[in-house]
Amino acid sequence: MPNRTVIIGTGSALPCRLVTNKDLEAVVETSDEWIRTRTGIEQRYLIGEGETNSFLAARAAKKAIEMARIRPDDLDLIIVGTFTPDMPMPSVACLVQKELGAKKAGAFDLSATCSGFIYGLSIADKFIRDNRKMKILVVGSEVLSRRTNWSDRTTCVLFGDGAGAAVVTGVREDRGILSTHLHADGSLGGLLTIKGLGTAQPVTAEMLGLGWQYIQMQGKEVFKYAVKALEAVAWEALSANNWTTDQIDLLLAHQANIRILDFLRERLGLSEDKVFININKYGNTSAASIPIALDEANRSGLLKPGMRLLMVAFGGGFTWGALAMRW
Ligand code: COA
Repeated sequence: MPNRTVIIGTGSALPCRLVTNKDLEAVVETSDEWIRTRTGIEQRYLIGEGETNSFLAARAAKKAIEMARIRPDDLDLIIVGTFTPDMPMPSVACLVQKELGAKKAGAFDLSATCSGFIYGLSIADKFIRDNRKMKILVVGSEVLSRRTNWSDRTTCVLFGDGAGAAVVTGVREDRGILSTHLHADGSLGGLLTIKGLGTAQPVTAEMLGLGWQYIQMQGKEVFKYAVKALEAVAWEALSANNWTTDQIDLLLAHQANIRILDFLRERLGLSEDKVFININKYGNTSAASIPIALDEANRSGLLKPGMRLLMVAFGGGFTWGALAMRW
């Protein structure tokens, strides 16, 4: 029996500030009705005083470590999927390592936007297939509210802040991660981008005036690519494992829009109870969305040993991916 990667602990953390759709009606010209019907979002949590990406990531990590019944210095590696770090350097992963006191662990951030958690788990899986004794912390954590243009109603109603985490290790049993599938198409990156604040151009008043420090998205175009890519990668994962769609026990998809989730459910012929949905409560939290959903599913007792889980994500870059596992 080859080494298999299993999740032994999950955790999540949300910031303190609850912002409802009604609250946003005072910020931009929008309505609770529009946001609900076009996106499925009812509210989101945003950071408040003293809260940062690494603060949320460390809180989620501590819960996952506690559930895994390990000590922080048992960790060999910390991977944080994020594109909204506290600062360019040190990485969120290093800040988390310090906060946890995980002295033995290597640590790095991974930039794959909303697919960051699946990309991160996929890397962890490769290490653990080589050495099943390793313990790796994989986190998805974002503070999108600091990269959101609060006068652009086409984007500001969509996003939320938060973090989710998982501790993984290896077993020689017939369960755990079965396959991972990573994809990207950089030629379409311009459809969902933050143009400024990198090193390509200096930060100038002109650049800030153009709003290049904020997420800019051509929503309709992104939507079209997202549904196609998510469906294709779901079929790819099913076929790699010889699964039929009715063998999927739970689909944990990136929570970007309820209409994308409905479309996927219909295309795969899944019943409503097989698609996990929490976008109503948190909005789109990018790399954090799947680990938050995983933690909620886990802590609510929804996940049962042997269940077949399919995770799928799509985001800026574009990046997308899938992961099939037996719980
Ligand atoms: N409140 C009220 N009206 C709004 C609005 C808001 N917050 N945002 C946009 N509108 C208006 C538009 O101005 C437009 O008006 P017009 O017809 O007079 O021009 C109308 O609503 C429809 O806008 P449109 O952009 O066509 O809406 P949509 O149905 O495509 O929904 C998104 C917009 C962003 C919700 C949707 O495109 C989406 O979810 N895209 C994909 C997001 C995604 O998957 N991201 C993936 C990775 S993060």
